[in-house]
Amino acid sequence: MLRFLTAGESHGAGLVAILEGIPAGVRLSEALIRQDLARRQTGYGRGGRMKIETDYAVLQSGVRHGETLGSPIAVLIENRDHSTGKGPDGKPWTHTMSKEAVDGEVTPIRRLRPGHADTPGAAKYATQDARDILERSSARESAARVAVGAVCRAFLAPFGVEIRSHVVNIGGVRAPATAPEQVDWERVEASPVRCADDAASEAVVAAIDAARAKGTSLGGVFEVVATGLPIGIGDHIQWDRKLSTALSAAIGSMNAVKGVEFGGGFAEADLPGHEAQDVIKPVEEWERGADGAWARPWPRRTNNAGGLEGGMTTGEPLVLRAAVKPIATMINPLPSVDLATGEVSQAHYERSDITFVPACGVIGEAMTAFALAGAMLDKFGGDRIDETLRNWRAYMATVGPVAASPAHGG
Ligand SMILES: Cc1cc2nc3c(=O)[nH]c(=O)nc-3n(C[C@H](O)[C@H](O)[C@H](O)COP(=O)(O)O)c2cc1C
Repeated sequence: MLRFLTAGESHGAGLVAILEGIPAGVRLSEALIRQDLARRQTGYGRGGRMKIETDYAVLQSGVRHGETLGSPIAVLIENRDHSTGKGPDGKPWTHTMSKEAVDGEVTPIRRLRPGHADTPGAAKYATQDARDILERSSARESAARVAVGAVCRAFLAPFGVEIRSHVVNIGGVRAPATAPEQVDWERVEASPVRCADDAASEAVVAAIDAARAKGTSLGGVFEVVATGLPIGIGDHIQWDRKLSTALSAAIGSMNAVKGVEFGGGFAEADLPGHEAQDVIKPVEEWERGADGAWARPWPRRTNNAGGLEGGMTTGEPLVLRAAVKPIATMINPLPSVDLATGEVSQAHYERSDITFVPACGVIGEAMTAFALAGAMLDKFGGDRIDETLRNWRAYMATVGPVAASPAHGG
């Protein structure tokens, strides 16, 4: 079983992640993880925090001479802001977030911020300082998830699985609909808002500027595309073994995500049945790889299912989208109430992004990588990556129609 935990507060000393279940022999380096951490930090509309941090995950365990050992992989990401920065009350974070009891006052956050974990968290944990809640619920934690996702991506690479994301909508400004195989991924990486269309990128940047000028914020939609997946990953036999379950949970667990859809998603509800399903191509149209096995067995004419049927991969690209709500902390704060008195006040303001949808796409890639790596390991097992690859190759030789298999000379 592949699993991970994270620890760490937004302005504490740092973030920790432990990932267990990656086989031995996977090539891994801090530089590789850094690439994804840097991608999470980009995006027009991010706030001051991203200028302070240059996220770097130090591998603490589980790797030797550039390869995983099969033991738990632990990473540590320092919060630079902790040692160098000051909070909104002007006091250093080392004071506000001190592990030890401190002399002198620590300013509590009592002006609850609607849209954050502050209110249910403070009620549930019976605290008079919402910082006890917001420090952990902050999306700073997503840096640890991205580090975990980078490791999962390294595991998936030898199977030819690639995971990418792009922004399709920010604040209602939409990129033109593009089939996943036609997305120009280089353009996405070069775009300040991770959008594949130049005109849409410009319009989105203008929308972010307008939102900043109004003191408000913007949400949006990102799309994740995973290619190279074998058919039959996941399972139909139990609700908690479906890949769709793992992906929904992984993406739905992200801060600010309010909706997840696969393939045609909610638009499928409007289609007649004949247009919604993905017809299978006859075997004469299939392609073989260099080893003689089917390159992509049971291919489809369309991919409305987004690469999932019955909770299993079809072998077509996996396509999922997630909607994220606009950021709750705004320069023009929302009306709120005081945690101690219940009296009217304005929500607490702490340095904040205008939008974060491009970063959400990168976090979505990481969570997708985790869910896919787990499902691949459930199917193929293996203590060392060579064993996993052997099992995968043997399986791929069996998944075509029996009469057309290489063993039958088909
Ligand atoms: C990458 C990323 C960055 C975020 N940055 C901010 C931010 O700067 N300010 C803010 O108020 N919320 C931000 N959020 C959203 C909050 O973390 C989140 O909406 C909030 O904690 C409440 O959780 P919920 O939306 O899941 O209910 C960010 C979320 C993500 C994924």
